[in-house]
Amino acid sequence: MTCGPVPIVETAALPDPFGSVVPMSYSIAPELLDDVFVPPFDEADAASTRLLIVDDEDSIRGPLAKYMAARGYDVATAASGREALAHLDQGSFHVILCDVRMPEMTGLQLVPQALESDPDLAILMLTAVNDAPTATDALSRGAMDYLMKPIELADLERAVRRALHRRTLMIEGRRTEQLIRQEVRIRTAELQLRTDELERERESLRLLTVRMAESLINAMEAKDVYLRGHSQRVAELAASMAEEIGLDPDVVEQVRLAGRLHDVGKIGIRETVLNNPGALSPEEFAHIKEHVRIGVEILAPLEHLGAVLTFVHDHHERWDGSGYPRGIAGEAISIGGRLISTADAYDALTSRRAYREAMSEEETMTILSTLVGRHLDPRMFEALSKVLERRRALVFIDDLHR
Ligand SMILES: [Fe+2]
Repeated sequence: MTCGPVPIVETAALPDPFGSVVPMSYSIAPELLDDVFVPPFDEADAASTRLLIVDDEDSIRGPLAKYMAARGYDVATAASGREALAHLDQGSFHVILCDVRMPEMTGLQLVPQALESDPDLAILMLTAVNDAPTATDALSRGAMDYLMKPIELADLERAVRRALHRRTLMIEGRRTEQLIRQEVRIRTAELQLRTDELERERESLRLLTVRMAESLINAMEAKDVYLRGHSQRVAELAASMAEEIGLDPDVVEQVRLAGRLHDVGKIGIRETVLNNPGALSPEEFAHIKEHVRIGVEILAPLEHLGAVLTFVHDHHERWDGSGYPRGIAGEAISIGGRLISTADAYDALTSRRAYREAMSEEETMTILSTLVGRHLDPRMFEALSKVLERRRALVFIDDLHR
């Protein structure tokens, strides 16, 4: 069977190869045909293709259906948009050839409704309206191609094959995309699970290490009646001061932890020096100063400690730069370092020592006030005063309730 080009004659009745009359021949825009691969005709493919031809004119619909059926396609016809939708409700189709200008429901109106019932439909618009806006409109509504009458029947069949090929590619593409998305979702979930697991392991390792460091401190302080509970008290006082000056809760917790760990380096200091109640010789003093460096070395592998490490490093620095180990001054000393050194000094004076009794809060604050601007940051001293004031108020309220 052949179907050669038919002259473009809009009104003349032309004989078609099947004996019926085609009032109009068709031609397809070459740019729509030639830019995509068109698979060769395959009888089996044609037989398994359900094609719906929608045109309100019998004289067009009939011959088109006859030609496509003769080529082996499984063809149905509809004379209106509504009839087409009824066909789609009853069974699935692969391709729709659809006229644009139809009464009641135009082809452009049919496109979205047809795609709603089957998103995999390949819809080819057929119209004599040779205008770009209609073509754009049809494509934007989801039509696959826009074929302009007049078109040769053989070209039309070729356009159907091309549309089928594109439809297959699109379905495969969508399936592949779904598979990829699914795979990505699974992998992401697995990765998240592993990350959570690692984070949990890291967190428990962190806690374990910090607890070990705290146990070391507790063991060390337990040996010395005068030091017992010192780190714990410094930690709580420095954290309260940190809250007082309005530091972020995260930083407050870092200050608290640094307070607990600040003297961990004393593990590396000779007990004879640590327990020496008298004045230290220059050598002994140099040795005891080493506890800062040793502490930092002990804690350094715990990278997650971050600022905590710096706070520990700075807890013997002084506001005027006369401290150690670096001799830095003012705000070059980390905020945690300044908080802990102030709390440390307060706790040392208010604790009993082998060579003196514990000082009262008042006496201690008098002594510390003389160090403001020299050893102590004035802002930290003020924070300490406020925290102590608040604690006194709390004790007072507590007494009232007894
Ligand atoms: Fe210290």
